[in-house]
Amino acid sequence: MPTRLSAPNIAAVTHEQTRIRTRVPHISSPAVKGASMTTTTKERVAYFNGEIVPESKALISFRDRSFKYGDGAFDMTRTFGHKIFKIEEHIARFSNTLRYFQIDPHMTEKEMIDKSMEVLEANLPLIDETEDYWVGQRVSRGTDIVGGDMWEHEGATVVIECTPLPLKARAPLFKDGIDVIVPSVRRTPPESLSPRAKSHNYLNLIMGDLEAKAYNPAAWAVLLDMQGNFAEGIGSNFFTVKDGVIHTPRSQFVLGGISRETVMDLAKGLGIPVVEDDIDPFDAYVADEVFLTSTSLCICGVRTVNGKPIADGTTPGPITKALMDAYVDFVDFDWVSQYTSRLEA
Ligand SMILES: Cc1ncc(COP(=O)(O)O)c(C=O)c1O
Repeated sequence: MPTRLSAPNIAAVTHEQTRIRTRVPHISSPAVKGASMTTTTKERVAYFNGEIVPESKALISFRDRSFKYGDGAFDMTRTFGHKIFKIEEHIARFSNTLRYFQIDPHMTEKEMIDKSMEVLEANLPLIDETEDYWVGQRVSRGTDIVGGDMWEHEGATVVIECTPLPLKARAPLFKDGIDVIVPSVRRTPPESLSPRAKSHNYLNLIMGDLEAKAYNPAAWAVLLDMQGNFAEGIGSNFFTVKDGVIHTPRSQFVLGGISRETVMDLAKGLGIPVVEDDIDPFDAYVADEVFLTSTSLCICGVRTVNGKPIADGTTPGPITKALMDAYVDFVDFDWVSQYTSRLEA
């Protein structure tokens, strides 16, 4: 029995029906397999409710519940040298998110992986060999039917897409380190909505990020939990290093980052102890090193927290650097140089 990304009691049509109902006129694009090459269009493609279509044809109703309420979920991995990273782990995490939200995408995990690979393969010719993609899976509970609708699609809305990584924009972070600001907005507690699920509703994190960026447009927000301990940022997990021990917030208060897990495994391999812990701002201010992890950044050193330099303010610190080197070895791709090669001369 294939593992279904399923949840009970959500009625929906099959994808066979979906395919018929949502068929869009085919337009040629080099990224669509078998498409005519006579066109000069260089448009990425996306999987959209059963078909691979040019991105501009993946159109979603304003009655879609993810647009109306953020009633949807997503996951996102990246490629390293055009090879996808831990797709099974990302889809397993996505499966848990969808089960928690009781959203049924009507696809198995294997189908989700296969379609992700197909979309990636179709889009790879559109970037050069030094660039890479985020590969994202997005599922909404679907479109609200209000009666008299011309919009015929029913059931979950499923999109699988590729987004070029913002390598140049983020390159300076690998030279200078990240400036973290702790906003007054607290991370949604697990009692309200589990942060372990990767919801399409990022408003809590966005409100924190807006506040941080009002102080410093280049800053990254890292929100505290309701107890005043560090939780996470808009797309990143938080780590400190003190006296040779790595600390990171407890798993029930944060998304289980795949990069977080990778770093914890690499640290164990290097013999560096890692503890899931309560970390308050005092702990961060007196830490020897602070770093963030995320799919795109992998690991990036933090220079300041609330304007206070971490140690002497130079990044990465020795343990952060050792983990970055181990991460590069693990993925067999020098993503640090991929960023730093894009620094302005
Ligand atoms: C809220 C949140 N925390 C942490 C992360 C980091 O997770 P990952 O390492 O899987 O990218 C993300 C990534 O998108 C996120 O959205």
